[in-house]
Amino acid sequence: VKTSTAEEVKIQKIFNWLTENHFVPEDCKFSNDQYRYIRKQILNNISLPGTTITPIMERFLYTISSSKHIKNIVVFGSYYGYALSWLFSGGIDNQDRNVVGIDIDGEACIGANQNLMRISNTLNGKATFSVESQDALKEMDRSIDDHSIDLCFLDIDVNGSKKEYIDLLEIWKDKMSQGGIILAHDPLVDKFQEDFSAFHEFIKTNDSFSHYVTLPLDFCGIDLFKRT
Ligand SMILES: C[S@@+](CC[C@H](N)C(=O)[O-])C[C@H]1O[C@@H](n2cnc3c(N)ncnc32)[C@H](O)[C@@H]1O
Repeated sequence: VKTSTAEEVKIQKIFNWLTENHFVPEDCKFSNDQYRYIRKQILNNISLPGTTITPIMERFLYTISSSKHIKNIVVFGSYYGYALSWLFSGGIDNQDRNVVGIDIDGEACIGANQNLMRISNTLNGKATFSVESQDALKEMDRSIDDHSIDLCFLDIDVNGSKKEYIDLLEIWKDKMSQGGIILAHDPLVDKFQEDFSAFHEFIKTNDSFSHYVTLPLDFCGIDLFKRT
């Protein structure tokens, strides 16, 4: 899929707005040349059955993860690591950055680890990563410190539903840092409308979360909100 100038303009405007309104750190930077170079490297080094992550979503994930204020990133439902590879690449030169993928599908985790290893090697990555085969609806075997996750991406899909996003937040909210950013994929997908109505109601009425917005980047959309 080709990427366009219209997308560049759209992402720039969105980040201007998100920064001005304190949804994201001010140092989220956007470089078209770097994005294009990294995209080429990712596409040359990744192997996956498919993904619904679109080019404009790639840019979004890449830009938000460029902030130096974000150290630890966790992807819930990492599959073969496509979204993960963009969240990894945005901070590829940051040696304080660690990216973790969690997925219940062990084969997908092996694939994601191989994909991330190739991408890291080709981009000379200083950031670290791991992909763990685990049920994200249970606490992890390997401990993640409380208040340590600065950015997380929710994308688990259980029997074709997104109902479990609420449970994910309940289980993991104490692991998120104060002001940590939470992204939830797919709020605009028709078949998930009921699940997201309940999810949005949960976020808006829960003191643990603030700064909620749904960004209509593409047909999937993405929710962004913060841990208080
Ligand atoms: C829509 S796919 C994720 C796509 C992925 N984020 C990408 O970048 O292409 C949903 C994933 O959620 C995973 N999943 C479903 N239930 C899970 C659970 N309880 N814990 C962890 N992963 C789960 C599935 O195995 C599947 O890989």
